[in-house]
Amino acid sequence: MAVIAGNWKMHMAPEEARTFFSAFEIDEMMADNEVLIFPPAISLLAAYKCENRDPRVQLGIQNVHWENSGAFTGEISAEMAASAGASYALVGHSERRQLFGETDEQVALKVAAVLRQDLIPVICVGETLEEREAGRVSEVILTQLDLALASIPDPEIRFLIAYEPVWAIGTGKTATPKDAAGAHGTLRNRLEQAIGVTAAARTEILYGGSVKPSNATELLAAQDVDGVLVGGASVNPQSFAEITRAAG
Ligand code: PGA
Repeated sequence: MAVIAGNWKMHMAPEEARTFFSAFEIDEMMADNEVLIFPPAISLLAAYKCENRDPRVQLGIQNVHWENSGAFTGEISAEMAASAGASYALVGHSERRQLFGETDEQVALKVAAVLRQDLIPVICVGETLEEREAGRVSEVILTQLDLALASIPDPEIRFLIAYEPVWAIGTGKTATPKDAAGAHGTLRNRLEQAIGVTAAARTEILYGGSVKPSNATELLAAQDVDGVLVGGASVNPQSFAEITRAAG
Protein backbone atom coordinates (compact mmCIF):
# COMPACT_ATOMS: atom_id res chain seq x y z
CA MET A 1 0.00 0.00 0.00
CA ALA A 2 1.24 3.46 -0.87
CA VAL A 3 0.04 7.00 -0.32
CA ILE A 4 -0.20 9.04 -3.50
CA ALA A 5 -0.78 12.69 -2.68
CA GLY A 6 -1.27 15.63 -5.02
CA ASN A 7 -0.44 19.17 -3.90
CA TRP A 8 -2.15 21.55 -6.29
CA LYS A 9 -0.43 24.61 -4.77
CA MET A 10 -1.98 27.86 -6.17
CA HIS A 11 -3.60 26.13 -9.13
CA MET A 12 -7.09 24.82 -9.80
CA ALA A 13 -9.96 27.23 -9.09
CA PRO A 14 -13.25 25.57 -7.98
CA GLU A 15 -14.49 24.97 -11.53
CA GLU A 16 -11.13 23.47 -12.56
CA ALA A 17 -11.23 21.20 -9.53
CA ARG A 18 -14.62 19.90 -10.63
CA THR A 19 -13.31 19.31 -14.15
CA PHE A 20 -10.32 17.40 -12.74
CA PHE A 21 -12.52 15.02 -10.77
CA SER A 22 -14.67 14.31 -13.82
CA ALA A 23 -11.56 13.09 -15.62
CA PHE A 24 -9.64 11.40 -12.78
CA GLU A 25 -10.25 7.72 -12.16
CA ILE A 26 -8.66 5.32 -9.73
CA ASP A 27 -7.93 1.96 -11.22
CA GLU A 28 -9.90 -0.72 -9.32
CA MET A 29 -6.70 -2.70 -8.83
CA MET A 30 -5.10 0.27 -7.14
CA ALA A 31 -7.83 0.59 -4.55
CA ASP A 32 -5.44 -0.41 -1.77
CA ASN A 33 -3.49 2.77 -2.20
CA GLU A 34 -4.49 5.94 -0.45
CA VAL A 35 -5.05 8.88 -2.80
CA LEU A 36 -5.06 12.40 -1.40
CA ILE A 37 -5.51 15.78 -3.04
CA PHE A 38 -4.60 19.10 -1.47
CA PRO A 39 -6.54 21.75 -3.43
CA PRO A 40 -6.11 25.47 -2.74
CA ALA A 41 -8.38 26.39 0.20
CA ILE A 42 -10.90 28.15 -2.01
CA SER A 43 -11.50 24.96 -4.00
CA LEU A 44 -11.68 22.59 -1.05
CA LEU A 45 -15.44 22.70 -0.58
CA ALA A 46 -16.07 22.40 -4.33
CA ALA A 47 -13.79 19.33 -4.39
CA TYR A 48 -15.52 17.89 -1.32
CA LYS A 49 -19.00 18.33 -2.77
CA CYS A 50 -18.09 17.33 -6.30
CA GLU A 51 -20.34 14.44 -7.33
CA ASN A 52 -17.74 13.18 -9.76
CA ARG A 53 -15.03 12.79 -7.12
CA ASP A 54 -14.35 9.16 -6.36
CA PRO A 55 -15.04 9.08 -2.60
CA ARG A 56 -11.79 7.15 -2.14
CA VAL A 57 -9.93 10.36 -3.00
CA GLN A 58 -9.50 12.13 0.31
CA LEU A 59 -8.85 15.84 0.67
CA GLY A 60 -6.52 18.04 2.62
CA ILE A 61 -5.63 21.67 3.21
CA GLN A 62 -2.25 23.05 2.14
CA ASN A 63 -1.73 25.32 5.14
CA VAL A 64 -3.56 26.44 8.27
CA HIS A 65 -3.23 29.11 10.93
CA TRP A 66 -2.52 27.75 14.42
CA GLU A 67 -5.50 29.45 16.09
CA ASN A 68 -9.06 28.20 15.67
CA SER A 69 -10.44 31.66 14.87
CA GLY A 70 -9.65 35.32 15.40
CA ALA A 71 -8.50 38.56 13.81
CA PHE A 72 -6.05 37.03 11.32
CA THR A 73 -7.01 38.54 7.97
CA GLY A 74 -6.50 36.18 5.09
CA GLU A 75 -5.86 33.11 7.22
CA ILE A 76 -7.77 29.82 7.44
CA SER A 77 -8.00 27.61 10.51
CA ALA A 78 -7.81 23.85 10.76
CA GLU A 79 -11.35 23.94 12.15
CA MET A 80 -12.58 25.66 8.98
CA ALA A 81 -10.65 23.27 6.75
CA ALA A 82 -12.19 20.29 8.56
CA SER A 83 -15.68 21.70 8.08
CA ALA A 84 -14.97 22.21 4.36
CA GLY A 85 -14.05 18.55 3.87
CA ALA A 86 -10.35 18.25 4.73
CA SER A 87 -9.11 15.12 6.47
CA TYR A 88 -5.40 15.90 6.08
CA ALA A 89 -3.22 19.01 6.33
CA LEU A 90 0.17 19.76 4.86
CA VAL A 91 2.34 21.45 7.46
CA GLY A 92 5.67 23.17 6.87
CA HIS A 93 5.86 22.84 3.10
CA SER A 94 9.17 24.36 1.97
CA GLU A 95 7.35 27.04 -0.03
CA ARG A 96 5.68 28.17 3.20
CA ARG A 97 9.02 28.12 4.99
CA GLN A 98 11.03 29.83 2.25
CA LEU A 99 8.59 32.26 0.67
CA PHE A 100 6.42 33.11 3.67
CA GLY A 101 8.97 32.90 6.47
CA GLU A 102 7.33 30.03 8.33
CA THR A 103 9.52 28.91 11.23
CA ASP A 104 9.97 25.49 12.86
CA GLU A 105 8.14 26.89 15.91
CA GLN A 106 5.15 27.89 13.77
CA VAL A 107 5.20 24.47 12.15
CA ALA A 108 4.97 22.91 15.62
CA LEU A 109 2.01 25.14 16.53
CA LYS A 110 0.30 24.23 13.25
CA VAL A 111 0.79 20.50 13.87
CA ALA A 112 -0.92 20.95 17.25
CA ALA A 113 -3.77 22.96 15.65
CA VAL A 114 -4.31 20.31 13.00
CA LEU A 115 -4.43 17.53 15.60
CA ARG A 116 -6.98 19.44 17.70
CA GLN A 117 -9.37 19.05 14.74
CA ASP A 118 -8.49 15.39 14.20
CA LEU A 119 -6.92 16.18 10.85
CA ILE A 120 -3.94 14.04 9.88
CA PRO A 121 -0.81 16.15 9.52
CA VAL A 122 1.61 15.61 6.65
CA ILE A 123 4.78 17.16 8.03
CA CYS A 124 7.14 18.38 5.31
CA VAL A 125 10.90 18.41 5.81
CA GLY A 126 13.76 18.90 3.39
CA GLU A 127 17.14 20.51 2.85
CA THR A 128 18.19 23.27 0.46
CA LEU A 129 20.91 22.72 -2.15
CA GLU A 130 23.34 24.74 -0.05
CA GLU A 131 22.64 22.57 2.99
CA ARG A 132 23.03 19.40 0.90
CA GLU A 133 26.35 20.58 -0.51
CA ALA A 134 27.54 21.38 3.01
CA GLY A 135 26.79 17.76 4.03
CA ARG A 136 24.02 18.85 6.40
CA VAL A 137 21.07 16.82 5.08
CA SER A 138 20.54 14.68 8.19
CA GLU A 139 21.06 17.52 10.62
CA VAL A 140 18.53 19.75 8.82
CA ILE A 141 15.78 17.22 8.31
CA LEU A 142 16.11 15.76 11.81
CA THR A 143 15.90 19.21 13.40
CA GLN A 144 12.74 19.92 11.41
CA LEU A 145 11.31 16.53 12.35
CA ASP A 146 12.14 16.82 16.07
CA LEU A 147 10.48 20.23 16.40
CA ALA A 148 7.30 18.98 14.72
CA LEU A 149 7.28 15.72 16.74
CA ALA A 150 7.29 17.71 19.96
CA SER A 151 3.66 18.60 19.12
CA ILE A 152 2.57 14.99 18.83
CA PRO A 153 1.68 13.89 22.34
CA ASP A 154 0.86 10.24 21.69
CA PRO A 155 2.62 7.68 19.46
CA GLU A 156 -0.80 6.27 18.52
CA ILE A 157 -1.70 9.47 16.65
CA ARG A 158 -1.41 9.08 12.90
CA PHE A 159 0.76 11.52 11.01
CA LEU A 160 2.79 11.35 7.80
CA ILE A 161 6.17 12.77 6.88
CA ALA A 162 7.00 14.16 3.45
CA TYR A 163 10.68 14.35 2.60
CA GLU A 164 10.96 17.05 -0.05
CA PRO A 165 14.47 18.23 -0.88
CA VAL A 166 13.98 21.91 -1.71
CA TRP A 167 16.31 21.72 -4.72
CA ALA A 168 14.08 19.07 -6.28
CA ILE A 169 10.77 20.92 -6.00
CA GLY A 170 9.45 22.25 -9.29
CA THR A 171 12.94 22.11 -10.80
CA GLY A 172 12.72 18.89 -12.78
CA LYS A 173 15.65 17.61 -10.67
CA THR A 174 14.64 14.52 -8.74
CA ALA A 175 16.51 12.87 -5.90
CA THR A 176 17.78 9.47 -6.98
CA PRO A 177 16.00 6.52 -5.37
CA LYS A 178 19.23 6.01 -3.39
CA ASP A 179 19.22 9.60 -2.08
CA ALA A 180 15.54 9.29 -1.17
CA ALA A 181 16.11 5.94 0.58
CA GLY A 182 19.02 7.42 2.55
CA ALA A 183 17.02 10.39 3.84
CA HIS A 184 13.95 8.26 4.52
CA GLY A 185 16.07 5.77 6.47
CA THR A 186 17.45 8.62 8.59
CA LEU A 187 13.93 9.85 9.31
CA ARG A 188 12.67 6.32 10.09
CA ASN A 189 15.48 5.77 12.59
CA ARG A 190 14.61 8.98 14.39
CA LEU A 191 10.93 8.02 14.42
CA GLU A 192 11.85 4.68 15.99
CA GLN A 193 13.66 6.49 18.80
CA ALA A 194 10.84 9.00 19.25
CA ILE A 195 7.68 6.93 18.98
CA GLY A 196 8.86 3.31 19.02
CA VAL A 197 9.54 0.72 16.36
CA THR A 198 5.91 -0.28 15.73
CA ALA A 199 4.56 3.25 15.34
CA ALA A 200 7.60 4.23 13.24
CA ALA A 201 7.04 1.29 10.90
CA ARG A 202 3.46 2.33 10.18
CA THR A 203 4.25 6.04 9.73
CA GLU A 204 4.28 6.70 6.00
CA ILE A 205 7.22 8.71 4.70
CA LEU A 206 6.45 10.25 1.32
CA TYR A 207 8.99 11.50 -1.19
CA GLY A 208 8.28 14.79 -2.99
CA GLY A 209 10.16 16.80 -5.60
CA SER A 210 9.58 16.56 -9.37
CA VAL A 211 7.75 13.23 -9.16
CA LYS A 212 6.21 12.38 -12.52
CA PRO A 213 4.87 9.29 -14.29
CA SER A 214 8.33 8.51 -15.70
CA ASN A 215 10.12 8.35 -12.32
CA ALA A 216 7.34 7.37 -9.90
CA THR A 217 7.85 3.62 -10.18
CA GLU A 218 11.53 3.66 -9.22
CA LEU A 219 11.01 6.17 -6.41
CA LEU A 220 8.11 4.19 -4.96
CA ALA A 221 10.25 1.05 -5.08
CA ALA A 222 13.03 2.64 -2.99
CA GLN A 223 13.59 1.46 0.57
CA ASP A 224 11.47 3.32 3.14
CA VAL A 225 9.53 5.27 0.50
CA ASP A 226 5.86 4.74 1.38
CA GLY A 227 4.36 7.14 -1.10
CA VAL A 228 4.84 10.34 -3.04
CA LEU A 229 3.76 13.96 -2.75
CA VAL A 230 3.30 15.28 -6.26
CA GLY A 231 3.10 18.96 -7.22
CA GLY A 232 3.20 19.86 -10.91
CA ALA A 233 2.17 16.44 -12.22
CA SER A 234 -0.89 16.25 -9.95
CA VAL A 235 -2.99 18.90 -11.69
CA ASN A 236 -3.27 16.77 -14.80
CA PRO A 237 -5.76 13.94 -14.19
CA GLN A 238 -4.07 11.57 -16.62
CA SER A 239 -0.55 11.99 -15.29
CA PHE A 240 -1.74 11.82 -11.67
CA ALA A 241 -3.68 8.64 -12.49
CA GLU A 242 -0.55 7.21 -14.07
CA ILE A 243 1.39 7.92 -10.87
CA THR A 244 -1.28 6.10 -8.81
CA ARG A 245 -0.81 3.11 -11.12
CA ALA A 246 2.96 3.22 -10.53
CA ALA A 247 2.20 2.40 -6.91
CA GLY A 248 0.69 -0.94 -7.85
P1 PGA B 1 6.77 19.27 -7.64
O1 PGA B 1 6.26 19.75 -6.19
O2 PGA B 1 6.26 17.86 -7.83
O3 PGA B 1 6.15 20.24 -8.60
O4 PGA B 1 8.26 19.33 -7.62
C1 PGA B 1 6.26 18.88 -5.08
C2 PGA B 1 5.78 19.62 -3.86
O5 PGA B 1 6.16 20.78 -3.66
O6 PGA B 1 4.99 19.07 -3.04
